[in-house]
Formats: sequence, C-alpha cells, structure tokens
Amino acid sequence: MLAIIGGSRLAKLPVLEVTHRQVVRTPYGDPSCALTFGRVGQQSVVFIARHGYGNSIAPHEINYRANIWALHSVGVKGVVAIGSVGGIRPDITPGSLVVPHDLIDYTWGRKHTFFEGADRAIKRVDLSAPYDDRLRLLLLAAAERAGLDVVRDSVYAVTQGPRLETCAEIARLERDGADVVGMTGMPEAALARELGVPYASLCIVTNWASGLGLQDAAANFNSDIIAGSTEQLQRILQAL
Ligand code: HPA
Repeated sequence: MLAIIGGSRLAKLPVLEVTHRQVVRTPYGDPSCALTFGRVGQQSVVFIARHGYGNSIAPHEINYRANIWALHSVGVKGVVAIGSVGGIRPDITPGSLVVPHDLIDYTWGRKHTFFEGADRAIKRVDLSAPYDDRLRLLLLAAAERAGLDVVRDSVYAVTQGPRLETCAEIARLERDGADVVGMTGMPEAALARELGVPYASLCIVTNWASGLGLQDAAANFNSDIIAGSTEQLQRILQAL
C-alpha cells in the first residue's frame, strides 16, 4: 500500500476510489485527520490531508509525528508527499511540478524526532539523501508516461511559516543553494526516515518566491495556474 500525503492544494484526492476511513490514535497524539483508504487504479492507497480535511492546521502546528506514525502503523511501503512551494530558481516558474532531490531545514520548534526521552537510545539516522531514490525515479517515470514535464532535481528550503518570506530571506535561501521554498517538507522527511519508510515529494509551484515576481508575494499566486497543475499532479499519481 502506498501513502499519499495531500498538501494545502490537495486536501481531498478526487482520483481516489474510497473504500473506508479509519481514525488512528498514536503515542504522539492525533494525526491531522482520519486516514482514507481506497484505490487509485489497481494500487491500494491510503490518503491523509496534512492540514486536515478543512485545511485549517498551519504548517508549524501539524502533528508530523502522529501523521507519519499512523501511516507506518497501517503498513505503508512508501509515502508520496504532495506540497506547495514558491519558485526561486529562474526556470522553476509557477505551474511547474517538482520532485526535489535534497532539502535544507530552516524550521524550528517542531517536534522533529521519535527518538526523545532518556529511556530511548539515541539513533542518528542518515539523511544525506532525504528522499528515497527509487520512489523518486518511479514518480519521474510516471510523469513521463503521463506526458508531463517535471523538474527532476531541486533543493527544497523548508521555512517555518505560516507567513511568506521577506525578499532578503529568499535572497539568502538562493545563496544557500535552494531552488524552491515551502513550509512542510520537514520534519516529515526525517520522521519517515526514522521509521524506515521510503519517502519522496511531488510539489506544485504555486508562486514566485518573495522578491522574484510581483512586489507582493501573495499576489503571485494565480489560481488558474494552480488548478491546472493540481490536475496534472493527479495524472502523475494515476500513472504511478
Ligand atoms: N514560501 C513558502 N512556502 C510556500 C510558498 C512560498 O513562497 N509558496 C507555497 N508555499
């Protein structure tokens, strides 16, 4: 079974034929919402909306540990994480779809590990390659079968939010080597790694990051472009 974590632009997954829902409790509290089970084509899928089905949980308030724990507890073999990002690199324009290959974590204060407490041995998981290579390649191959272009390599900067960044912050992220910026990529990727669940991400570029498009970053969000790429993203999931 494959897990899909829906982002703010995908709180429901129209291509999912739903069979049932299940409320899962975890030692880390409640996930964002009940898990939705079903099928996309022949593939068994479990879906969770990261921000809740009402899209009301802000990035810094998401219980990432409970979400990843819940998916692991129902036996998923991989997680495809959908997210919205702003474009930093000049060729990553609004409407692009991106499968990042690396990330930089600028978040703070989030519950970011399962290994805490004096009764737990310290475990240093390797995160040199935060995204699972095989799942990334499957996503890229699915995009190709669907006849859609995706950006194959990019570095995802994860900011704290929920506000957008200042122009100087984006200039700094660019100097750091980031290509796109979003708010939910971490600690999700690291938590999946801690539990040994293959994790890859497919992102919709919803806007130019601050200072790179119009003066006001919020005005860079174009709902027609976003609707188009949300539809393309679902075609990739169907192909996958
Ligand atoms: N910054 C941070 N997160 C985002 C953005 C952005 O510009 N767009 C979508 N998620």
